[in-house]
Amino acid sequence: MAAGNVAAGKGKAAVCAACHGTDGNSLSDAFPKLAGQHEGYIVKQLMEFKSGARQNALMAPMVANLTEQDMADLGAYFASQKTAPGAVSEELLAAGEQIYRGGNKETGVPACMACHGPNGNGIPAADWPKLSGQYSSYIETQLHAFAKGERNNSPNGMMADIASKMSDAEIKAVSAYVFGL
Ligand code: HEM
Ligand code: HEM
Repeated sequence: MAAGNVAAGKGKAAVCAACHGTDGNSLSDAFPKLAGQHEGYIVKQLMEFKSGARQNALMAPMVANLTEQDMADLGAYFASQKTAPGAVSEELLAAGEQIYRGGNKETGVPACMACHGPNGNGIPAADWPKLSGQYSSYIETQLHAFAKGERNNSPNGMMADIASKMSDAEIKAVSAYVFGL
């Protein structure tokens, strides 16, 4: 498959703007930011929304007619956009940072930064997603969905395994922390 084309993706992204913003900075935390997310990760998610491996009532109709080339172009466009960290309440920061950087040895939660990077930028070559600047409520929803087995968690079920070991308080704290990264 050819790599995505940013200019072609920009045109195709017009239909995404109502929820994800023209540049992937969604206007509401009801919708995840796509700005700066890695192309390969975006393509993977779009393919999974299309196959039904990842289910969402709003995204399913959006991907029904997308070709793999459309997905690559959209991924390249959103990956080329920038986002900024959000403002985080001080009280959650320390607990969130502890989980993100050190995990929880007692319960077997690994450090998030091992896969999502010290700055929350993910690992582009592996299609491991950037989390920095992402809305806390979206992160929180995804962690609960992984824990309950409601979100597909390839490869190797790693996020389901991790999230199911986290307490609600840990999920809340780490979700706040990454919004500010
Ligand atoms: C999630 C892309 C249009 C609502 C996502 C994700 C991607 C994406 C890649 C996953 C983000 C992640 O895993 O971090 C697109 C593209 C669109 C589009 C390329 C245009 C072709 C829309 C529209 C809506 C919408 C128009 C609202 C009607 C959502 C919601 C989620 C989501 C609610 C979160 C799903 C969940 O909680 O699992 N979108 N989107 N999207 N999108 Fe879109
Ligand atoms: C996806 C959080 C640790 C690998 C995600 C997502 C979140 C998240 C919120 C969904 C991103 C989105 O929808 O945009 C966390 C937190 C961690 C953690 C809070 C620490 C407690 C790890 C570790 C690994 C990992 C240690 C690797 C062993 C992945 C992968 C995905 C992912 C591969 C993408 C799954 C997919 O393609 O659907 N993580 N993560 N994460 N995480 Fe983590």
